[in-house]
Amino acid sequence: MGFRYLDVRREGGVEYLTLNRPEVRNAFNDGVITEITWWADSVAADANVRAVVLAGAGPAFCAGADLEWMRRMAGYSHQQNLDDASDMARMFLTLDRLPVPVVGRVQGAALGGGTGLLAICDIVVAADTAVLGLTEVRLGLIPAVIAPFVIAKIGRSAARELFLTGARFGAERAKTLGLVHGVVPEAELDQAVAGYVADLLAGAPGAIRAAKHLIAECCKRSATEAATLCAEAIADRRASAEGQEGIRAFLEKRSPTW
Ligand code: COA
Repeated sequence: MGFRYLDVRREGGVEYLTLNRPEVRNAFNDGVITEITWWADSVAADANVRAVVLAGAGPAFCAGADLEWMRRMAGYSHQQNLDDASDMARMFLTLDRLPVPVVGRVQGAALGGGTGLLAICDIVVAADTAVLGLTEVRLGLIPAVIAPFVIAKIGRSAARELFLTGARFGAERAKTLGLVHGVVPEAELDQAVAGYVADLLAGAPGAIRAAKHLIAECCKRSATEAATLCAEAIADRRASAEGQEGIRAFLEKRSPTW
């Protein structure tokens, strides 16, 4: 697929996805949603990808849903609006379920669905000047398809505050909420992202995928219900080629082969 709204490049095992509509602060419309979903499906099926970096071109990470598109959609039927919103929900679900780690790189605004995109990242590095917010109610809308992902990240109490006020907040607050993991001056964003990517490349690719999968599975279960699944996961890993190589490399005081 040729991309109109995205900039996609691969360096080694790292896939860089950059939202590329800076003139509207990378707001997403139906075209962006189609492209991101297609991209995410292909990355999910690609065993060579070890990490994704999600960024936005220009002065802002992402201004959320494209309000011109939303205005147009208001003239469509309920069914058309439902189909359209379901496409957006599928985009977020597909991103959330990517089997490889996703690192978000945030400068400027990440509002509405832009904050939603951060909630599906595994690691987020933000400029100290970044501004986040679930601003939808200020526009007469609601944070809807992003709600499960944002609530899973920030919890019910903060969701009740932030969904209902629509207030914007800074990177340091976002860090206390668990939406952001690193806060740096904007000039140091790329270096901070590269540091996280280096960490992700230091781990065994299969182990990292298995760990990400296990987190999602554990979050659906009580500790008792998860016990068998977790025991099976580590039993498989110990006996795996990667597990054996990692342990041998440590004992032989050398780097593992990955
Ligand atoms: N949808 C469509 N267009 C948008 C947009 C959105 N979500 N956000 C910004 N734009 C457009 C603006 O209309 C403007 O277009 P114009 O050049 O034709 O006037 C252009 O992007 C630049 O926006 P501007 O506000 O001038 O840039 P800024 O850098 O000063 O501020 C934001 C950027 C993102 C802080 C500001 O545009 C904003 O608050 N946007 C709304 C974000 C929001 O609440 N999203 C939730 C959507 S549910």
